[in-house]
Amino acid sequence: MPLIDSRVCDYWSEELKSFKERIRRLEEGIERLKAAREAGKEWPEDPVEFCQKFLGFEPTAYQVKLLRDSSQFIVARWARQSGKTHCVAALLLWHCLKKQGFSIIVLAPSIRQSKIIIRKITSFLPRLPKYVSLRPYKTKVEFYNGSRIQALPNSPETIRGEPSVNLVYEDEASYIRDDKELHQAVIFTLATTNGRFLATSTPGSRDSLFYAMCTDDQNYGDVSRHHVSFEDAIEPKGPLKPEILEKLRKQLASDPWRWRREMMAEFADDEDAWLGMALIQKCVDENLEYLPDSTLFA
Ligand SMILES: Nc1ncnc2c1ncn2[C@@H]1O[C@H](COP(=O)(O)OP(=O)(O)OP(=O)(O)O)[C@@H](O)[C@H]1O
Ligand SMILES: [Mg+2]
Repeated sequence: MPLIDSRVCDYWSEELKSFKERIRRLEEGIERLKAAREAGKEWPEDPVEFCQKFLGFEPTAYQVKLLRDSSQFIVARWARQSGKTHCVAALLLWHCLKKQGFSIIVLAPSIRQSKIIIRKITSFLPRLPKYVSLRPYKTKVEFYNGSRIQALPNSPETIRGEPSVNLVYEDEASYIRDDKELHQAVIFTLATTNGRFLATSTPGSRDSLFYAMCTDDQNYGDVSRHHVSFEDAIEPKGPLKPEILEKLRKQLASDPWRWRREMMAEFADDEDAWLGMALIQKCVDENLEYLPDSTLFA
């Protein structure tokens, strides 16, 4: 008769296997942590070189200008599809790798839009060594060196609760509701780290903080400003295809103001319109979602 039941043996052998597996993963984690701490020095000093060598793309001339701009406050007023998200995602990633414990928050008119930035950053990760980051979430990327990038809802209360933020990025800043109130929360968050602020957008209403930052020299004279029209971003200078642009211009012939805003990146309000841009924008809530027709007509 056996001294120990074979089921007990199987049980303990499984336990031992899973214990060994946990130890192995723990050791792997420690190795990644060590590698990440060491690697800080190896990442290029120049974010442009980082894009070329590690992310495998050649930044355009206007992207180079933004990537190398070390100003504390930056606004970039760029045409649609000129490469804002692509370029900024690379820049945020470079910041996080270059400095340990670097904390970034990403804001946009809706959490859905800020998740797009996180998705872009996540899409670059397979190009980098495995030890760089932990498994990303839809709203957060954490790095082994203690840095992190988080997408937050654009509520001043949530932002006030965030300690020690090194960089705040606002995408489509011109379309963020209650942007002035939000900005107050943002600058106090940056105060303890002497951090940086970066906003990109196609121009929206003139009644926005983004407009003031782009134009008001008296109050925002220290803000570094970038402007990119569609002409600066047509192939080979940028990613815009000339063929589709011509079609788009024809389609927007009845709304030339929209063309000027979205493609020329100018603050252009439709002077013949009955309702102004500022009023229309105030009525839009990007956080609302459409109900499917089936719910309405069931
Ligand atoms: N330097 C580059 N090299 C190669 N492709 C690029 C480059 N910059 C941008 N792209 C590509 O161009 C396209 C548009 O880029 P992106 O989405 O970043 O533009 P955007 O200005 O954020 O657009 P939107 O106005 O819709 O928010 C993407 O497919 C992106 O991968
Ligand atoms: Mg974008």
